[in-house]
Amino acid sequence: MTDRTDLSALPADFTWGVATSAYQIEGAVAEDGRSPSIWDTFCRVPGAVDGGDTGDMACDHYHRWREDIALMRELGVTAYRFSIAWPRVVPGGDGPVNATGLAFYDRLVDALLEAGITPFATLYHWDLPQALQDRGGWPVRGTAEHFASYASVAARALGDRVHDWATLNEPLCSAWIGHLEGRMAPGLTDLTAAVRASFHLHLGHGLATQAIRAAAPGVRVGIVNNLSPCTPASDSDADRAAALRADGHTNRWWLDPVHGRGYPEDMVRLYGVELPERPGDLETIAAPLDWLGLNYYFRNVVADDPSGPPPYARQIRRPEPRRTAMDWEVDASGLEELLMRLTEDYAARRIHVTENGSAYRDLPGPDGAVDDPERIHYLEEHLAACARAADRGAPLAGYFAWSLLDNFEWAYGYDKRFGLAYVDYATQRRTLKASGRRYAAIVRDGRAARATPAQASRTA
Ligand code: FCB
Repeated sequence: MTDRTDLSALPADFTWGVATSAYQIEGAVAEDGRSPSIWDTFCRVPGAVDGGDTGDMACDHYHRWREDIALMRELGVTAYRFSIAWPRVVPGGDGPVNATGLAFYDRLVDALLEAGITPFATLYHWDLPQALQDRGGWPVRGTAEHFASYASVAARALGDRVHDWATLNEPLCSAWIGHLEGRMAPGLTDLTAAVRASFHLHLGHGLATQAIRAAAPGVRVGIVNNLSPCTPASDSDADRAAALRADGHTNRWWLDPVHGRGYPEDMVRLYGVELPERPGDLETIAAPLDWLGLNYYFRNVVADDPSGPPPYARQIRRPEPRRTAMDWEVDASGLEELLMRLTEDYAARRIHVTENGSAYRDLPGPDGAVDDPERIHYLEEHLAACARAADRGAPLAGYFAWSLLDNFEWAYGYDKRFGLAYVDYATQRRTLKASGRRYAAIVRDGRAARATPAQASRTA
């Protein structure tokens, strides 16, 4: 353990994980009955994705999953967060189940368990079947209902072995970036569609939570949100008000409804879009959860921007902090702050950091080794922030590094590398980076420190 990483405050049964998502790694988009998703469509819009990249091949994980589990074993992680591709399992969005598609995840789960790795399944990581987009997508209510049916199919098939389920990954991105900013699938810039999408994503989450619990009693259900502390760029009243709006847009809109608080009124007024709510929906959305997933990447420092899009707050680029290749500020204190907010303001019972990681310009040396000291620094700092929050009482149960592998980084294509393992896309060769080896050492130390003396001597 280095000075930077005193992790002794993390609980004895801490989950050490890595995360990925289906579209970003699987490839095999037209195989075994998978139908196109909105990302297959979006990738074909000229200029939508850097370099014209697509997920057609990605990391070819659909064929190389055994190798990828071996990589996880090398890391020594105790859990793997992956997502299930709805277009593989229910290609039409609703209707017939594709047994061959489902069988892929069945094999994956069995092999993970055999390797001693606990599976965490996410049901929706942005790959809506295009067939449902053609019928209106998330802005229409039917999509929420179809999502629950698909969740039930997946939970019935895998719930005997997968005990932790996430309904949605980052609904903020689906709604705001996909329907308001247009930088992600389905690429709309329509506030009404975005607000309606956000509501139906939440409804889908609530209905799916019920469906999972009915299909697989006893499993744990959570939701994964990406949150950012929103800090005013200056002390001015205008910037402080902008930070409050940005907080509503980024954090409260996504947390309040699932905690039974309804939608924040200041934001309902600001958007000025009527919510497509029916009696009982808010109760469905607020079904108590077993855990909260937090994806943390950066803090938002914002200034008033009356002429910009809602929430009229512009992100400021501060000169001081270090930055990743995404141009995101590195600020681990934001992670501690959010963990404490979930604990203190939302009375979280159990939290997993379901994603955290960094992209850097990795260049393999002549021997193929990838030395990535900046990613090591980032990882250590953020794990230390987790430990500080745990020390202050946050019920933090796990950490999942984003990502196991370099992969298809959405609109940025393959240029942005977040992996603990480097992927040479020409050969699909995986190589653990120095950060991967560092994570393996941290995990090993963490597991040994918390094992009973007898177990510790076995792992030594
Ligand atoms: C998150 C996404 C994940 C990945 C990371 C870098 O917003 O959930 O798929 O792209 O960012």
